[in-house]
Amino acid sequence: MRTEAAGTAVHRVLARSVCRTRMTRKARDMENLEPSGDGQPAYGDLLRLRELLDVACVHDENVDQVLFLTTHQVCELWFAVLLRHLDAARAALGSGDGETAARRLEQLPSVIRVLIDQFDVLATLEPQAFEAIRVEMGDASGFQSVQYRELEFLCGQKDSRLLATKGFTEEDRARLRRRLEEPSMADTFAEFARDGAEEPATPRRSPAVAERVRRALLALDEAVVIWRARHAVLAERFLGGRPGTAGSAGARYLWRVTERRLFPDVWPQS
Ligand code: HEM
Repeated sequence: MRTEAAGTAVHRVLARSVCRTRMTRKARDMENLEPSGDGQPAYGDLLRLRELLDVACVHDENVDQVLFLTTHQVCELWFAVLLRHLDAARAALGSGDGETAARRLEQLPSVIRVLIDQFDVLATLEPQAFEAIRVEMGDASGFQSVQYRELEFLCGQKDSRLLATKGFTEEDRARLRRRLEEPSMADTFAEFARDGAEEPATPRRSPAVAERVRRALLALDEAVVIWRARHAVLAERFLGGRPGTAGSAGARYLWRVTERRLFPDVWPQS
């Protein structure tokens, strides 16, 4: 039947992705998978849904808080996916494979659009519900998202002062220090474009491939600017002119952030 065939294909894809996540954990994870009736691991086992929903904030008594926290968790999952793709794209560029880098990068604006949609979900909260959640949150803020800072640093927007962010653990700081030290995507692209212009062109390294990568970086940067602007509008809607929970100027701070660019050199230069 069509649905079964589709289900089997989904299983195959998921099984492959589970296999590739962590080779050391792979064997253990696969051993623990319960086969479904047809001998294939069941959907919920492949996704490790029980564990995922156990740690997700979906059981909170306050349903508004469920929505608030889950949107943040969803964003963090996508931040992790963005980091994986950007790492892979940078490695490909570093090895002279612009085609693969472009393919990875071209997937990312769609991911950012999913992240922008999370703000639409949050905008459905009543102002009173938001205020109640804010009290619960204390001074916790997305400002303390270590993965978001990793993304900025990996792209090339590095600011070592952010290591001092309140709430970061030693492990968070170590991750960010590594990101500060390694070559950024912007550096790696600049080198790729320079070498491509000098060396004899190959299908994977040529001025045309470099241009495709440049456009992909521009599209990513543009999507991030729109994410930042949507974030600022949402903060303004809920906070007006009040400061944020991390102590910044709130929406005014977020509007200022929209002026930053991850890859300033890929934009038209005046
Ligand atoms: C009603 C929802 C939200 C409001 C009112 C809000 C508000 C703010 C404010 C005012 C800041 C500035 C720092 C501070 O003083 O707290 C901030 C920073 C931040 N928020 Fe949100 N936020 C919301 C949702 C989200 C979501 C869903 C995410 C996704 C993970 C997120 C991620 C971040 C990040 C990464 C920063 C740091 C931005 C930077 O420094 O460039 N926020 N947020």
